[in-house]
Amino acid sequence: MKAVICTKYGPPEVLQLAEMEKPVPKKNELRVKIFATAVTASDCIVRGFKIPPWHPLGLMMGLALGFGKPRNPVIGMVLAGDVESAGADVTRFKPGDRVYGMTGLRFGTYAEYACLSEKECLVIIPANVSYEEAAAAAYGGLLAGYFMQKANIRTKVKVLIYGASGAIGTTALQLTKHFGAEVTAVCGTGNLGLMKSLGADAVIDYTKEDLQGRGERYDFIFDAVGKKKSSALKSQCKKALTANGLYLSVDDGRPKSLPENLELLSKLMETGSFKPVIDKVYPLAEIAEAHRYVDGGHKKGNVVIKVR
Ligand SMILES: NC(=O)c1ccc[n+]([C@@H]2O[C@H](COP(=O)([O-])OP(=O)(O)OC[C@H]3O[C@@H](n4cnc5c(N)ncnc54)[C@H](OP(=O)(O)O)[C@@H]3O)[C@@H](O)[C@H]2O)c1
Repeated sequence: MKAVICTKYGPPEVLQLAEMEKPVPKKNELRVKIFATAVTASDCIVRGFKIPPWHPLGLMMGLALGFGKPRNPVIGMVLAGDVESAGADVTRFKPGDRVYGMTGLRFGTYAEYACLSEKECLVIIPANVSYEEAAAAAYGGLLAGYFMQKANIRTKVKVLIYGASGAIGTTALQLTKHFGAEVTAVCGTGNLGLMKSLGADAVIDYTKEDLQGRGERYDFIFDAVGKKKSSALKSQCKKALTANGLYLSVDDGRPKSLPENLELLSKLMETGSFKPVIDKVYPLAEIAEAHRYVDGGHKKGNVVIKVR
């Protein structure tokens, strides 16, 4: 099968197209014929991993991922495709099922086939959803779903999403609107219209505006871009919480990938209440170019890889 291997940690050029053996499913695993994957912010962090092994974080990541290069040379965490074959103990899926989900730290999705256990984060793709849309939905769906569940969003609460235009942000925005919240989306100048089209009640441009003088208070503030990306506006956010308000960052703790969050997304996609945002689609052979684009830090929603 065709696969993209990460030859060592480094810039996008370390990703090389290669021929590999098709993986063989164990008794409790299924083999998915992958039609689409996505280049996520996490994939770029893994590929570019440059913390030295003597640093405690470097040691921890090295142990988890591999030293010098990833233990599994095929990185990539999300997939959408068809179940091609299933081991004898698999009961939830059968060959021919259209599925999407996340392999997480097992990686292996920058390839034409991947094996995963039926207990992992995998669900059926709704009939009206394409492989590209499903691959785009998985990462943001699992991460935003986890944090929105933690925040227990109710109708009419006032929410501010900082960085609402990335994969996690565009999903969080649509989910909080679905739960009935009043949502203010924060993004850069080029994405103001996108935020409105996804249902934001108010939009703030972090490159030009701040919260001073607005006098608004929010019950829940979600930092969807993480601690490395900031602005004057982001520093003001914590002061704009209501007395019992909650502030969560996507970098807080270790988010769990829960299939129930994908199930919810599937229901919303089926009824047209959720639409994954796709910025660009690249063929598998051009994945290094896709990484270069995501490294830029301004993708709108998701960057999808068409595998076949
Ligand atoms: N804790 C964990 O385990 C965990 C797991 C997964 C992901 N994460 C983190 O989650 C973050 C988000 O990932 P993602 O894929 O949704 O998005 P992303 O690709 O990291 O970011 C894309 C978005 O960030 C926005 N952005 C860039 N600089 C900004 C700034 N200073 N203020 C506000 N927005 C800014 C851009 O908006 P504009 O173009 O509109 O400026 C763009 O839409 C990543 O940094 C990742 O590390 C953490």
